[in-house]
Amino acid sequence: MAKFKVYVTRRIPEAGLDIVREVADVKVWDGELPPPREVILQEIRDVDGIISLLTDKMDAEVMDAGKNLKVISNYAVGFDNIDIPEATKRGIAVTNTPGVLTDTTADFAFALLMATARRIVEADRHTREGKWKTWVPTGFLGQDIHHATLGLVGLGRIGYEMARRATGFSMKLLYYDIYRNEKFEKELGIEYVELPELLRRSDFVSLHVPLTDKTYHLIGRQELGLMKKTAILINTARGPIVDMEALYEALRDGKIAGAGLDVTEPEPIPANHPILGLDNLTIAPHIASASVATRTKMATMAAEGCVAVLKGEVPSNLVNPDVLKVKELKGMAG
Ligand code: DGY
Repeated sequence: MAKFKVYVTRRIPEAGLDIVREVADVKVWDGELPPPREVILQEIRDVDGIISLLTDKMDAEVMDAGKNLKVISNYAVGFDNIDIPEATKRGIAVTNTPGVLTDTTADFAFALLMATARRIVEADRHTREGKWKTWVPTGFLGQDIHHATLGLVGLGRIGYEMARRATGFSMKLLYYDIYRNEKFEKELGIEYVELPELLRRSDFVSLHVPLTDKTYHLIGRQELGLMKKTAILINTARGPIVDMEALYEALRDGKIAGAGLDVTEPEPIPANHPILGLDNLTIAPHIASASVATRTKMATMAAEGCVAVLKGEVPSNLVNPDVLKVKELKGMAG
């Protein structure tokens, strides 16, 4: 088979690169930071496929520069960095990495929930700073997790796994989604409510929706204003789903008790952002899927999606199946 060319925008686990090397010459951007846009525009010119990251904006300009481009394989389940209609129009297949990171991400979302509720990071800081003088009856009082109400915004794969974890803590479960899932309602004993009601009734609100035009700033000043003063917001989905300015004010003014964020707007959050000065925020640098096993599975899946298209096969994780209606996958003719 003719060797293809594939560009990979960051060093991903070798297991994935090895799969692509079987059919293609692979060039990897080895920088610590993402490749600058000019580099992507240059590199894409003669490649058949690209393995991109959520930090790479794949828009019409990039696709036009990639005259031979047949596939954009995103090393992530989310694909808000890719203009899907533009890819589809051009017959470019887009693939992602669903499923393999579900449990790992739900584990981390639950860890953030627990850490924020029980003020673990704040207490760790206090202890290391030599401030632990004695056992204090009213020191570091947090929020109980067991028997509390968890409101899930989005009951897809990760939301569902979050709900399953919560049942182990005897939590009451609410959800809001654009789709109702009566099977999950029966199985998990989870109640469907509209978003305002979920915000009013929940002790914890955890976000599990993709970033789209409809979910941009879904949680803003008004929504935060509906939450209980004792409530905690968890976001492991995408930063722009929450209005950071409004969240900062709500945390600062004690309108809600805390927030646990793995994602922010922008990313990375500037080191001088005032929200970083607040003790009732637990924050991480977008690492919810970061376990050794999961990042390796993501690399393998991204590679397999890329290779399938190059071989003219329909990948199992095709994001834009409409591309098949527009024309044959470009790879089929390749
Ligand atoms: C994703 O896959 O979309 C996560 O944000 C990173 O694993």
